[in-house]
Amino acid sequence: MTRLIRLPGMLDPHVHLRDLDWSHKSTFASETAAAVAGGYWAVFDMPNTPPSTTTRPALDRKLASIGAQAVCDWGIYFGASQDDNSAEYAGAIDDVCGLKIYNNATTGNLLIGEQAARVPHYRAWPGRKPIAVHAEGPTVAEILALVRETGKHTHFCHISTAEEINYLSAAKADGLPVSIGVTPHHLFLTEDDVRTLGPFGRMKPELKTQADVNALWDAIRAGLVDVIESDHAPHTRAEKLGDVPPSGVPGLETSLPLMLTAAHEGRVELERVLAMLTTEPQRIFGVTPPDGTYTLVDLDDSYVIEDASLFTACGWSPFAGTRVQGRVREVWIRGQQVFDGENVLVPQGFGQNLAASQH
Ligand code: DOR
Ligand code: ZN
Repeated sequence: MTRLIRLPGMLDPHVHLRDLDWSHKSTFASETAAAVAGGYWAVFDMPNTPPSTTTRPALDRKLASIGAQAVCDWGIYFGASQDDNSAEYAGAIDDVCGLKIYNNATTGNLLIGEQAARVPHYRAWPGRKPIAVHAEGPTVAEILALVRETGKHTHFCHISTAEEINYLSAAKADGLPVSIGVTPHHLFLTEDDVRTLGPFGRMKPELKTQADVNALWDAIRAGLVDVIESDHAPHTRAEKLGDVPPSGVPGLETSLPLMLTAAHEGRVELERVLAMLTTEPQRIFGVTPPDGTYTLVDLDDSYVIEDASLFTACGWSPFAGTRVQGRVREVWIRGQQVFDGENVLVPQGFGQNLAASQH
């Protein structure tokens, strides 16, 4: 049997495509190919690949490179820097999908750890596009104080604990303009998996306890979680096996099938899964898929995730060996078929920047 469903434009608002000075890890071409193989119409790229997207020249370099290579539609974040680049925001906002502020340590050198240093960034960012934040634990409460003061829509990336869900559920009940993203790795893995995965199970935020994982699923079922985002962050095998393994795991090709598997097993409604991958991120970032943009998925096909079948240049997944239910058959963007289940069908540069269309 083949039960084909049609998804209206999958959007992942949290990926690290690399390229630029990290093109040995992956390129805009390789990772946007991974995106369409994962069913996506569009991806929003984070600013922590060197040179960090925190200045106009760095932004221009990234715009030119991704524009020439992307096979899906895209956006890029401007990044907040420690030396206070907030004077650049008004001139950058038309070209980017939003602002990213790193408030806890992670890959790259973007970190604003002091609350006082965050204030000028929150005040200067023109509010018409979201601020996405990396905030863990009590830092979530600190950021909520800035949201309360400025009223600027803030997307909380990769929320991973019961404590963070509690802060954000209270903030939503208070009517603050916040949204919540959760990654599949924080839903399907726990800290116990680090024993078997080793460095391939290391990412920021780290894997958490079963109780935290349960709290995330409860929050999904309660409708509190807005977005499933992959936090796709490829690193080479050699780097992962080195003395100081970098944090991050790929996810673009596994997010949809893992979430469809959860729906198949009755852990969450299929409708809600699809919304968190399509209409919810579209709503938060104010984008509408162009006519002729959709993904066809076969809900009855099942397969085992294998490293060798991945498009991502890193060539590995923490989910290798996992059986999933549901397979991407076709991806169409602007009336053009871009993926047929096995091959990318459009040339590099087909993808477009969504920044100008955000409303
Ligand atoms: O594990 C992570 N890797 N977390 C992040 O926030 C950044 C990412 C990366 O860029 O590798
Ligand atoms: Zn990230």
